[in-house]
Amino acid sequence: MSSDGSPQADDTNKLFRVVELYCGIGGCAAALQATSGDPARGHSRATTQTIAAIDINRGALNVYAYNYPHPTFPALLEFLRLERLRRWDAHLWWMSPPCQPFTQRGHQRDLDDPRTKTFLAVIDHIAAVRPRYVALENVPPFRESRVRRHLIETLEESGYTSLHECLLCPSDFGIPNRRQRYYLVAGRGPLLPFPTPRHRSRPLATYLDSASSPDLEVDPELIERYGHSLHLVRANDPDAVTHCFTSAYGRSPVRSGSYLEHATGVRRFSPGEILRLLGFPPSYQLPPDLPLANAWRLVGNSLSITPVQSVLAAIPELAGLETQK
Ligand SMILES: C[S@@+](CC[C@H](N)C(=O)[O-])C[C@H]1O[C@@H](n2cnc3c(N)ncnc32)[C@H](O)[C@@H]1O
Repeated sequence: MSSDGSPQADDTNKLFRVVELYCGIGGCAAALQATSGDPARGHSRATTQTIAAIDINRGALNVYAYNYPHPTFPALLEFLRLERLRRWDAHLWWMSPPCQPFTQRGHQRDLDDPRTKTFLAVIDHIAAVRPRYVALENVPPFRESRVRRHLIETLEESGYTSLHECLLCPSDFGIPNRRQRYYLVAGRGPLLPFPTPRHRSRPLATYLDSASSPDLEVDPELIERYGHSLHLVRANDPDAVTHCFTSAYGRSPVRSGSYLEHATGVRRFSPGEILRLLGFPPSYQLPPDLPLANAWRLVGNSLSITPVQSVLAAIPELAGLETQK
């Protein structure tokens, strides 16, 4: 591969090349880390190569680069030159575009939200470059959006003959965390059916740090003030399921994630615990100098790895990804 990520003549036929758009801290890279086909489903191993990971947030890219050697590019995707995307010649474009235009908190302005502009430009890029596969993650209301309708029409007009969509939550896989998301995979050739989620329960206690930091403790005044609006879980409850941790965790006391009740009080979940609940591998680490507030913001924006693996396993070259650990 050359220094700008474009393939060289001798690697174009061997590798399954991936471009991560809106890559954040690398949820897709973490999902692909386990790639190896599923011989049982009749598919040989595909070696993936992430040739470019693009995001406008340099803090997120720093965390990405701390974990993965893939080339990162700080850029506004709406200004990324088509020529560059063509040269990368990726098989798969993975994307997690901003979700605010579709959330209640973001007022669900959909196509009329200026924050949608970047993704509309990316949809134009798809039509122009036509990568073999496109895959996307977003919040559930995206499914009813005008942007989704525009995306589907564009994919159909651009020769994408296979298209799968679903809503998946990590709790469908037995993970004690809720984060229901919309997923789409489209291909210019056949796709495999989405695999059925494999339910492997592991209690919340097994995701927790062995020792907790005093920084995580919650001020009793906050507990008094917000009382029943806080979602509390206990480590010794085998059925405990945490709520979705959002980028507002640590800033916004309610509807941004769960709290852990313990013998002497209540604490927040650490970014490391949230990464574990999201399914990031143990090898994934946050830089030690990353401030706690930034870490919560970045991990709250990221992906639940197990559902992403399940969705990507519909791509024949990535079949079996969901069975990897
Ligand atoms: C929902 S987050 C995706 C996070 C990612 N899936 C991960 O694993 O961390 C959306 C990302 O899009 C980035 N972003 C927003 N607008 C952008 C733009 N116009 N160009 C490039 N990146 C953008 C944000 O910085 C953020 O990291």
